[in-house]
Amino acid sequence: MKIIDLRSDTITLPTEEMRQAMYEAELGDDVYGEDPTVNRLEELAAHMIGKEAALFTSSGTMANLIAVLTHTRPGDEILVGSEAHMFWYEVGGASALGGVVMRTVPNDQDGRMDPDAIEQAIRLKNIHFPQTTLLCLENTHNRCGGAVLTLEYTSAITQLAHQYGLKVHLDGARIFNAAVALDIPASELARSVDSICFCVSKGLSAPVGSLLCGSQEFVEKARKWRKMMGGGMRQAGVIAAAGIVALQKMVSRLVDDHTTAQRLAYGLARIPGISVYQERVQTNIVMFESPTTIPGTEFTQRMDTRGVKCGSRGGRRVRAVTHRMVSDTDVDEALGRIDLLVKELG
Ligand SMILES: Cc1ncc(COP(=O)(O)O)c(C=O)c1O
Repeated sequence: MKIIDLRSDTITLPTEEMRQAMYEAELGDDVYGEDPTVNRLEELAAHMIGKEAALFTSSGTMANLIAVLTHTRPGDEILVGSEAHMFWYEVGGASALGGVVMRTVPNDQDGRMDPDAIEQAIRLKNIHFPQTTLLCLENTHNRCGGAVLTLEYTSAITQLAHQYGLKVHLDGARIFNAAVALDIPASELARSVDSICFCVSKGLSAPVGSLLCGSQEFVEKARKWRKMMGGGMRQAGVIAAAGIVALQKMVSRLVDDHTTAQRLAYGLARIPGISVYQERVQTNIVMFESPTTIPGTEFTQRMDTRGVKCGSRGGRRVRAVTHRMVSDTDVDEALGRIDLLVKELG
């Protein structure tokens, strides 16, 4: 039985071209700034995202943490969405290692935070209060089903935050999915924010790595934080080489993942008992609900035994992510297996 793995786009394996580029990569010691392949990746990333400089990190989690450390001081308060990846899935690193308080502002189903709620959450000057210094956005929004933040929304919220002297960091792990969905350059979506990170290890299919981008001064400080965290990776050109292929060759194919996600959502909507908000599927993430008779965790376990892997997201919520290693045929096969399972459950 073929396993159809819809847990995440992080499971994508590197392409042949990436493996070849890794084999042939010109290398040096990146801690001395001497790895030509890392330098090329950082320059390419900065150029594509429209910032002065970029820093190669081992993961999106590390890039987000470094952004917090660079923008804030211990004791500050930062604003994050109530559904933010930084809040849910990064082990509380911003608080544990950065010493900041994470204050959540409710995310709506499209990954947005209400401007009034943001304004109310920003602390005024008062001896008793921590200082609010950073606002974090997420685009596309993982827990909000791959929702896309528009250019207008991002610019307006950033302007608001800047009025109060806050910096804005964008967790753009899947920013190229957003750019492809909106049919605009990723640099447009990143223009107003102070820093952005994105991953080459997700739909772009590189094996490892993220890029944290911002001004020259920001990246210089960030590089020092990365070193402190043990993230100086020496001959990292071996992995950066795949990142270069990811940025040069894989961005335009993300649209295929979005089409596959639409196919999956369309099929799920036609299985009696499954609820899916088809019109909310904007990129490569499909959120749906298991039948009322069974919690999401148990449903995903049952799907697992039938060779369809998805993630449970609490209650009856289930997440499926499309990517390069899932074809239309795989989606149809997965739908068939899910349909059978639902019928068996009655
Ligand atoms: C929105 C978002 N931010 C950050 C990350 C963290 O990336 P990594 O798994 O490389 O640490 C993820 C991972 O799925 C993500 O979805």
